Amino acid sequence: MQIITLFPMSWKVLATRRLPGKWFDLLSKETQLEVWDGEEPPTKSWILDRIAEVDGVIVTLSDKVDREVIDAGRRLKVISTYSVGFDHIDVEYARRRGIRVTHTPDVLTDATADLIFGLILAVARRIVEGDRLIREGGWRKPWHPTFMLGTEVHGKILGILGMGRIGRALVKRASGFDMRVIYHSRKKHEEVQAEYVDLESLFSSSDFLTVTVDLNPSTRHMVSERLLRTMKRDSFLINASRGQVIDEKALVRALEEGWIRGAALDVFEVEPTGPENPLTKFKNVVMTPHLGSATWETRERMTEIAVKNLLACLKGERPLYEVPW
Ligand code: DGY
Repeated sequence: MQIITLFPMSWKVLATRRLPGKWFDLLSKETQLEVWDGEEPPTKSWILDRIAEVDGVIVTLSDKVDREVIDAGRRLKVISTYSVGFDHIDVEYARRRGIRVTHTPDVLTDATADLIFGLILAVARRIVEGDRLIREGGWRKPWHPTFMLGTEVHGKILGILGMGRIGRALVKRASGFDMRVIYHSRKKHEEVQAEYVDLESLFSSSDFLTVTVDLNPSTRHMVSERLLRTMKRDSFLINASRGQVIDEKALVRALEEGWIRGAALDVFEVEPTGPENPLTKFKNVVMTPHLGSATWETRERMTEIAVKNLLACLKGERPLYEVPW
């Protein structure tokens, strides 16, 4: 007996953004794809109006996939997020409804670790401040021995909060800068070339404290006023994970009162953020608009993984990256 497979064209897929790279074109050939084409994320009602009809959805971290959205997805088999983070999705509820949730780790690890090192160098060596000074016409006197002195990075102590993929990529980079690396995470990782310390020691010993934990109820505001107060006065806080891991109000106080020397942030409690954010008033803070994975190469690889994950789930196969249980 010949088995005729009802192939892809029968699958309906919704994508809340047009993604870069050829894999997205492939998806549009393989499925009946509806895409939100705006620069801004679609409204929730745009998603709700369509999700009942689709088998799979590709979302980004700016789309909140809560119970209402999941309940509306009556025939939904898979939620494929174009991100490593999945704090915007009610994963547990989706699972209870039998919907698989996938994400795109690994392919963005190096791009994010590169950006973190860029942030470390930018804030320690006052790179952004110097650039701004020149553009604003503030560089008037010739070279001077004590003009715009910064802090050295090589040979310092790099602290890593969390030891996942990005933490490990930072360990590799740190060796090129002759840094001593200490870390704290839920468990010890014997194979990692870094010293495990308790949370308090991580904060009190690091010269550059990088936050790489994901956002979940136990990490929300983990970087608290109490811990910030224990940091060295000449240390820096770096964050490219999720803004809500840091208590931003406490960080503003830390900067106002000089508990730390500076901060470099790629993520914020509320995004997008702008001049209304009190963090923008500090010269010793470098800010970038959530650019961790923002390279053409990485974003195209993320498209490939998001599309492969989605198609695998639709076919009833194992996706490359299912969100961990
Ligand atoms: C992610 O993937 O979660 C990053 O924050 C953006 O790429």
